Amino acid sequence: MLLFAIAVWSLCLLDVATASVTVFNQIPMGIQSAVSSTATVAAAYNDTILNPPPVPVPAPATSFTLNIPSVNTSVPQSQLSIPIPGTFFGFSIEMSVITQLFGVNSTFIQVPLLNLFNLISERAGALHVRIGGNTQEFAYYVPTLPENRAISKQKADTNNPTETPAVIYTMDLFYMLSNISSHVGVKWYIGVPFNDTSDFRLEIVEYSEAILGDNLIGIQVGNEPDLYVAHQHRNNTYGPANYTVEVGELIAAMAADSNIPVKNILIGPSVSGTWTPEQVFDTGFITNYTDDLSAISVEHYPTENCFPVYGISTYHDPQLVFPTFLNHTSAVSLVQPYLNAVSISQAAGKPFLMFETNSASCGGFPGISDSFGATLWALDYGLQMAYGNFSGAMLHVGGQNVYYNVAPPTNQSKYFEWTIGSVYYSALVAAEVFGKTNTAQIVDMLGNNASDFTPQYAIYENGALARVGLFNFITDPSGASDYTATITVDGGTVPSSVQVKYLLSDSVSTKNNITWANQTLGTVREVDGRFKGDEHVVTIPCDTGANTCQIPVSAPAFALVFLTPENAISTATFSTTMYTNTAATVRIDPTVLATSNGMSGKSWVLGSTSKQQASGALRRLRASLGGMLVGAAAVAGFLLGHWD
Ligand SMILES: *[C@@H]1O[C@H](CO)[C@@H](O)[C@H](O)[C@H]1NC(C)=O
Ligand SMILES: *[C@@H]1O[C@H](CO)[C@@H](O)[C@H](O)[C@H]1NC(C)=O
Ligand SMILES: *[C@@H]1O[C@H](CO)[C@@H](O)[C@H](O)[C@H]1NC(C)=O
Ligand SMILES: *[C@@H]1O[C@H](CO)[C@@H](O)[C@H](O)[C@H]1NC(C)=O
Ligand SMILES: *[C@@H]1O[C@H](CO)[C@@H](O)[C@H](O)[C@H]1NC(C)=O
Ligand SMILES: *[C@@H]1O[C@H](CO)[C@@H](O)[C@H](O)[C@H]1NC(C)=O
Ligand SMILES: *[C@@H]1O[C@H](CO)[C@@H](O)[C@H](O)[C@H]1NC(C)=O
Ligand SMILES: *[C@@H]1O[C@H](CO)[C@@H](O)[C@H](O)[C@H]1NC(C)=O
Ligand SMILES: *[C@@H]1O[C@H](CO)[C@@H](O)[C@H](O)[C@H]1NC(C)=O
Ligand SMILES: *[C@@H]1O[C@H](CO)[C@@H](O)[C@H](O)[C@H]1NC(C)=O
Ligand SMILES: *[C@@H]1O[C@H](CO)[C@@H](O)[C@H](O)[C@H]1NC(C)=O
Ligand SMILES: *[C@@H]1O[C@H](CO)[C@@H](O)[C@H](O)[C@H]1NC(C)=O
Repeated sequence: MLLFAIAVWSLCLLDVATASVTVFNQIPMGIQSAVSSTATVAAAYNDTILNPPPVPVPAPATSFTLNIPSVNTSVPQSQLSIPIPGTFFGFSIEMSVITQLFGVNSTFIQVPLLNLFNLISERAGALHVRIGGNTQEFAYYVPTLPENRAISKQKADTNNPTETPAVIYTMDLFYMLSNISSHVGVKWYIGVPFNDTSDFRLEIVEYSEAILGDNLIGIQVGNEPDLYVAHQHRNNTYGPANYTVEVGELIAAMAADSNIPVKNILIGPSVSGTWTPEQVFDTGFITNYTDDLSAISVEHYPTENCFPVYGISTYHDPQLVFPTFLNHTSAVSLVQPYLNAVSISQAAGKPFLMFETNSASCGGFPGISDSFGATLWALDYGLQMAYGNFSGAMLHVGGQNVYYNVAPPTNQSKYFEWTIGSVYYSALVAAEVFGKTNTAQIVDMLGNNASDFTPQYAIYENGALARVGLFNFITDPSGASDYTATITVDGGTVPSSVQVKYLLSDSVSTKNNITWANQTLGTVREVDGRFKGDEHVVTIPCDTGANTCQIPVSAPAFALVFLTPENAISTATFSTTMYTNTAATVRIDPTVLATSNGMSGKSWVLGSTSKQQASGALRRLRASLGGMLVGAAAVAGFLLGHWD
């Protein structure tokens, strides 16, 4: 649901949105010398660049045909996913980094965060965000915190290798979440603390329900209970049946709490691989609690990098690990172990969610988790989960000390903007892959002899072939590994032309130079959540007589081919151009809005052969819009702020 602010903007920008307007302001760049040395070494800013894997031998064919059925009913049923929502990829946010990412309290919300959330929300129709993680288990409520903060931390759990702190929160946390929802359409998952089943500390549920209302979409019961013994949260007699008993205890506690009107949106078991979901199902988890559960969840990271930080496990050389992320087998082998559990959940009418994932636990790998390779990997993994009938997946965000995510600056915020995690682009692009209709069905095409390096997917919307996604995992600057996929429509004809958006970078190793339809969010400490550069959607003419469209895909790249025109996306963007470096408490008026057509029918002219005309039109529109956009912002008139 888009509330007041966005609604006002949409109204004002209705005309211009379809005319593909982009209004950006330049971000004042920081004073480089002011960077402290400690800020440069945080994992999120690590500059390790790995070597891309060599071109595989034998190399996949550089030309192949995909003969794609025109309607979903012509696809073998067993190969067609359930309908996938545009909200498929969301974020999982460790509770302890809420201040860093969201802001100090409900009146000081990080503007770049709103922009980043909004870019996805406007493509997907909403954005699903889970707050929780290890830090949810010890969380507790207090009436007030110093400096009116919504969240504070306290070292609590030294048993867990990630030494996650206890989170202390006030009621203002929920006003903060609610305010984020009103601005950018976020729906929330929260978690019940599960460290002490004699005292579930249900305030988090009570306040979430009271303040978030419909924007609360699920309550997680237990986070990775299969690791409770390892983390010394339970003694070693604890098994799947104990967890199921404890969920029953929680259900009883919630039933007895008159401040919890909605009781049937529980999500579990969130096991991480030490127990299988089936082991929990076998204890009666789904059957006993079917009326209480709204979804089934798991959590999983393909690998871990715990040794460098915690001295546990063994050292994995990132350079040797890198290639294991850069092929289709990676995604397929991550999803395959869950297919049986997904099908059990489906039969019980429960959506199946990957509640927390990313490239590697214990913070990810330098050079991998923040690379364009990770962008492609996470996108393929997401599409493969959707193909495997998952209904959603949350990419975990853990703060500056991990390699895999979005990072706001902390004490450098007077000079610098944010740093984007490369998998943010995966989530953004996936939102366009699935779109807003909640009817997207995805098929793994397995074309090009099912090459591991060139996976392809077809996406049906309202039953008709709508989009095709084409990956190239190979890095080869010579151009010899670029390929051309020829699309033919079985039982129909290709359109006279298709529009293609490319997700590009020079190499799978790069971190800074990632573009989507020629726009980028920026490099390290340059990101304010608005796209920079001119959008360029490529129009490719098709041969309707031969029923073929030839789509070039460079190495490396992902191409999203639109066979049908899309509705316009109008971006209401929060400006951070008003940053000052005079004080820590900066109040910012969102005086500049930007609209950016994510994928509109008319706007595609811009990227086609009439580029010159289009950019002239763009300039004129920009000029005429300046005043109007400021007016719209004034009407919206909310108080956003930035806090360091
Ligand atoms: C990046 O991480 C690697 C591996 O942990 C480390 O050796 C290197 O010093 C780090 N670089 C920076 C600039 O922090
Ligand atoms: C996904 O669900 C559909 C509908 O139940 C089924 O036909 C299909 O085989 C499932 N896909 C996989 C990969 O199991
Ligand atoms: C659970 O967490 C709360 C809040 O952090 C703490 O006060 C309590 O002692 C913990 N209980 C157990 C059994 O660990
Ligand atoms: C948020 O924090 C600022 C600074 O401490 C304070 O002025 C403001 O009143 C706080 N807002 C709320 C809702 O507590
Ligand atoms: C935003 O937070 C404030 C509390 O600081 C609250 O009064 C207000 O209702 C919130 N707005 C929304 C839309 O939730
Ligand atoms: C393990 O914990 C349970 C629940 O607290 C308790 O009943 C049981 O006696 C403990 N078992 C051992 C062997 O410590
Ligand atoms: C697990 O359940 C068994 C069987 O009821 C019980 O003996 C044991 O104490 C339980 N362990 C914990 C940690 O609750
Ligand atoms: C689940 O339901 C069955 C049948 O009613 C019952 O025997 C069993 O004790 C229940 N399990 C739990 C953990 O509540
Ligand atoms: C492809 O990925 C799989 C799974 O991650 C890995 O085991 C395999 O070594 C990779 N293949 C190549 C050629 O790197
Ligand atoms: C095909 O798509 C339509 C519209 O989304 C849907 O109602 C129908 O169930 C789909 N058919 C199959 C076999 O999935
Ligand atoms: C970014 O990509 C462009 C185009 O591929 C290239 O010319 C430029 O050198 C790259 N910049 C960096 C910093 O890698
Ligand atoms: C891509 O964006 C750059 C600005 O970042 C612009 O100079 C260039 O013309 C754009 N390319 C196309 C093909 O639109």
